[in-house]
Parts: sequence; structure tokens; C-alpha cells
Amino acid sequence: MNAVPSPRIPPPMSLLAELTHRCPLACPYCSNPVAMDRKSEELSTADWLRVLDEAADLGVLQAHFSGGEPMARPDLPELIAHAVQRGLYTNLITSGVLMDERRFTALRDAGLDHVQLSFQDVETAGAERIGHLPGAQAKKLAAAKLIADDGMPMTLNFVVHRENVVRIPQMIDLAAQLGAGRVEIAHTQYYGWGLRNRAALLPSRAQLEQSEVDVAAARARYGDSLAIDFVTPDYHLERPKPCMDGWGRRFLNVTPAGRVLPCHAAETIPGVEFPNLREQSLGAIWNDSALFNLFRGTAWMPEPCASCDRREIDWGGCRCQALALTGNARNTDPVCGLSPFHDVVLEAREEERTPELIFRQFETVR
Ligand code: SF4
Ligand code: FES
Repeated sequence: MNAVPSPRIPPPMSLLAELTHRCPLACPYCSNPVAMDRKSEELSTADWLRVLDEAADLGVLQAHFSGGEPMARPDLPELIAHAVQRGLYTNLITSGVLMDERRFTALRDAGLDHVQLSFQDVETAGAERIGHLPGAQAKKLAAAKLIADDGMPMTLNFVVHRENVVRIPQMIDLAAQLGAGRVEIAHTQYYGWGLRNRAALLPSRAQLEQSEVDVAAARARYGDSLAIDFVTPDYHLERPKPCMDGWGRRFLNVTPAGRVLPCHAAETIPGVEFPNLREQSLGAIWNDSALFNLFRGTAWMPEPCASCDRREIDWGGCRCQALALTGNARNTDPVCGLSPFHDVVLEAREEERTPELIFRQFETVR
């Protein structure tokens, strides 16, 4: 079943294992697709153990266990233990609301290397408005304490948007107080649920600039004692982000139902078959599937990307953003000031704002 990697295509570095789309929270910027997988469609424990074996055989170095909320799967400790045994670095991406001492101990005993714990805000009211779960903030703080008291490396993650962007300094202070070694301040990315909520979440240019000032000041204040990652909203930039560090270059996502994707939003792309681990090996999908080769490298690029000196820096930006905003994933990412579709982004910057949020929910059954 295990494919021999092609010498032409280097192996992926990271596997994002989306164990489930189930989640107690309902964040309006969730990176899960709008059409989510149901519990009845999820891969079994045996399937995931095979995925981890195939990932290790393929040369993957890191396994990120994500969701939804991955702690909704009772087999999580077993999967982590298997990944550790296969030599993979293991990271748990969690909201923390299902964490308690017994469950944390099981994860630690399984050999978990690192936890990325998400917070929606530093203020309880703001956090619970976005997460849509009363009592969540206290559970997250308790989870952070369990992890820090154990000494396990921890990153705090804050997704920022126009409602909470003013509190970046306090977010970074909270990460330091809770004993995190790293904090990620990530502006919302606008596809899927985030795109639906763009008019409520997109910060103003002034807010973005202030967020850059706040992060720079915190970096100066904390120095080496706290690593601070900052992800900007590319709607306010003139050049796009190198989404996934290039299509099919370093990352692969496995969805709860076993589809293997180059990024979390790829399923929006029409007219292409989505390979499934129930039918093919991870190696065959990585190396040979039409999906992974669709936008790999630079040969697919139209002008202006094809002759641009940034084409191997940003890899033409984000295919899913190009699709969402122009209707064609092959188009140059409209965030780019050189794109013939850049007007779409200029108009979005000026669109009328609304406080109304559409919360993530299971609304489409496959
Ligand atoms: Fe990137 Fe293409 Fe814009 Fe050049 S033209 S900066 S490669 S998106
Ligand atoms: Fe799919 Fe950027 S999210 S390429």
C-alpha cells in the first residue's frame, strides 16, 4: 500500500490530521469548510493508525492533530502514541474546553510534544461571543494551567479581527502570564466561514497598522522570553501570502472523512477529484494525484505570475482565495496589486461593515 516517493517531489513536512469537524465552539472564522463532515463519515481508529504509518513512511516529520475539536475523539491518546512511536513530532491544536486533568495526563503519557491552545479573546464576554459557548474562557484558562504546570511546551493562539484587535497587547501579556513559550497573533483569513463574515470581521487599515505597532512593541518588551508569531490579513497588503508555502510543497491535510487536500479550503475547487485514503495511499496521493499536481510549482501560472520575480516566493498566493473572489482558482490572487482582479480586494476594504455574525454550524449534509 505504501508508495515509494517519487524522486521529483520532496516529501511533505507536515500532516494536518483533522480528526473531526465536531466542536463545542462555533467561531465565525472557523477554517473548517462550510460543508462539514458528519461523525458517521469519520475515519476509524484503524484508518488513522494507517494514515500515520503512511505519513511516517512518506517522510513526514510533524503530525498536527486538529479539528473541529480533536479532543472530541476518544482515541486521541492512542493516535498520538502511535505517531510518537513512528518518530513523528506531535502537536495538538485544541480549544481546551474538553481538557481536564485525566484527559491531559492521558495525552502526556502518550508522548504528546506540544499543545497549541486557542483563545478567542482576553475578555470573557468577547471570547464567549465569538466562540458561542458560555463558560469556555474559564475552561481554557484551566487547561493552560494544566499544560504549563506539567512543563509541556505550549503556544497560545489568538485569531484577531475588528472586534478584538485592540487587545493584542493584553493577549500577549496573557500568554506570558500563562507560561506559554510562544504566542500566535493571527488575523482572520477570509475564506469559508471567514469570508461569510468578512463585513463583520475585516479590520480597518488603521487597526491593521496599530496591530503591527503593538506586536513590534511586545517583541521589544519580551525579547527572547516569548516568541511572537504574527499573521497579517493579506486584504490590506499589495502582495499575497505564500499560501501553504506553495501548493503541494510541504503540507497535506487529511479531512475527517479521509479526503487528502493540499490546504483546508481546497474542497471548494470545482471540477477536480478529491482523493481519499480509503481508496489510495498517502504517498500515491502526494506524488501522483491530479489534485496535488494541479497547482504545484509554477508551470500552471498565468501572467502576470508566470514572468514575475516573486513566483517562487509567494507561489502566486492562494488558489482558494482566487476562486472565492474571482470564480477561478487559476487566476492570480486578487490580493496582488499586479492582479487584473485586484479591484475586488480594493472594494472589500471599503465595504460596509456590520456587527452581525454567522456562526459556524453543521448546515450541509454531504
Ligand atoms: Fe505573486 Fe503573481 Fe503577484 Fe508576482 S504577480 S507578486 S507571483 S501573485
Ligand atoms: Fe487553499 Fe490557500 S487556502 S491555496
